[in-house]
Amino acid sequence: MKAVVYKAPFQVAVEEVPEPRIQAPNDAIIKVTSANICGSDLHMYEGRTSVEQGKILGHENMGVVVETGPGITRFRPGDRVSVPFNVSCGTCRNCVSGWTSFCLRANPTEGVDGGAYGYAQMGPYDGGQAEYLRVPYADFNLLLLPPGEEFEQDFAMLSDIFPTGYHGAELAGVSPGDTVAVFGAGPVGLLAAHSARLRGASRVFVVDMHTDRLVLAERFETTPVDISAGDPVEHILDATGGLGVDCGIEAVGYQAHDPDGNEHPEMVMDWLVGCVRSTGGIGVVGVYMPQDPGAANEGAKDGRIGFDFGKLFQKGHRMGTGQCPVKRYNEHLRDLIMAGRAQPSLLVSHELPLDQAPEAYEKFDQRTGRYTKVILHPAA
Ligand SMILES: NC(=O)c1ccc[n+]([C@@H]2O[C@H](COP(=O)([O-])OP(=O)(O)OC[C@H]3O[C@@H](n4cnc5c(N)ncnc54)[C@H](O)[C@@H]3O)[C@@H](O)[C@H]2O)c1
Ligand SMILES: [Zn+2]
Ligand SMILES: [Zn+2]
Repeated sequence: MKAVVYKAPFQVAVEEVPEPRIQAPNDAIIKVTSANICGSDLHMYEGRTSVEQGKILGHENMGVVVETGPGITRFRPGDRVSVPFNVSCGTCRNCVSGWTSFCLRANPTEGVDGGAYGYAQMGPYDGGQAEYLRVPYADFNLLLLPPGEEFEQDFAMLSDIFPTGYHGAELAGVSPGDTVAVFGAGPVGLLAAHSARLRGASRVFVVDMHTDRLVLAERFETTPVDISAGDPVEHILDATGGLGVDCGIEAVGYQAHDPDGNEHPEMVMDWLVGCVRSTGGIGVVGVYMPQDPGAANEGAKDGRIGFDFGKLFQKGHRMGTGQCPVKRYNEHLRDLIMAGRAQPSLLVSHELPLDQAPEAYEKFDQRTGRYTKVILHPAA
């Protein structure tokens, strides 16, 4: 079959690889209908991880079941499914308490809890930017979708970025009437903003520097804030009568930079501490790495990022971080899509065949040509 594989920094290729096979009784094989490119894939693409050459990429997958192992009882060939990016066993202590993103069994990597498809350090699982994908513990992991092709673009956002955006809002404690600042108008930030609205936020600011993405923030009925036009903390304090927002969401990650492109990994954390009111909540879903060979300074190479912790203490902020446990939210978010209440696909910019993945990675990485969110269709 054809699959997108990692070759070297700034280089991916579509190559022939062996088709996946059932390896355990609880496996299923799906034929991939949609697989998105994620901002997290760019960390690998840019050579900022330890991903091995030849890894099949892709953790945002959906498709149709074509084969099931003998232990599978909930799904059968022909079922249309969304695949959470987390690979989780369903029975370990963390899975049982709803933290599938920290499964104690799925990832053999020393010191790392939680598995994922096609990702550095997240276990031996191939990605789904391919014609077929093996899903371990499939009875537990798969989410059933209605048959057909309706809502394909919206459902494609259920494997990662819609639940992840929602997780940001959950970690920040967004409640009805709250004011919210979301940093990052990438796909995750935009869907965090959408989620904040779904949870009843009265006002949502979305902060970035790319005008095409800030325009999308308006499409989600939120207020864009451009960091190239001035200090976003001052802007948000002014707009909230000096009080600050109730909740802040970090959807940028360790490659946060100024409008000139200079990286400051602490920049967005400092801004959040500055603009969230005392006792407010902060949800950090942007990725920070314990090791980053390409970091801007020595400490950050070991994941030690100095930010305004003293101010955070003084303001009594609550903060939550980490990978999203997709299963905790995806069923409810699916139902909001089907009820017409949520439309995460508003940010999709491109739908392409698998062959065009190398070009799509390049353009998405350079943030040119309005490449906000790319859905690959391997079967096309
Ligand atoms: N926690 C999880 O489970 C999870 C899941 C998916 C993605 N992520 C992470 O979420 C982050 C965002 O993902 P994405 O797909 O939207 O990525 P993306 O790269 O498309 O978007 C990041 C956005 O941040 C903006 N940005 C950079 N510096 C900024 C600054 N100083 N202030 C404001 N905005 C700034 C960029 O211009 C860009 O629009 C990434 O770190 C990704 O790895 C986490
Ligand atoms: Zn993703
Ligand atoms: Zn588990």
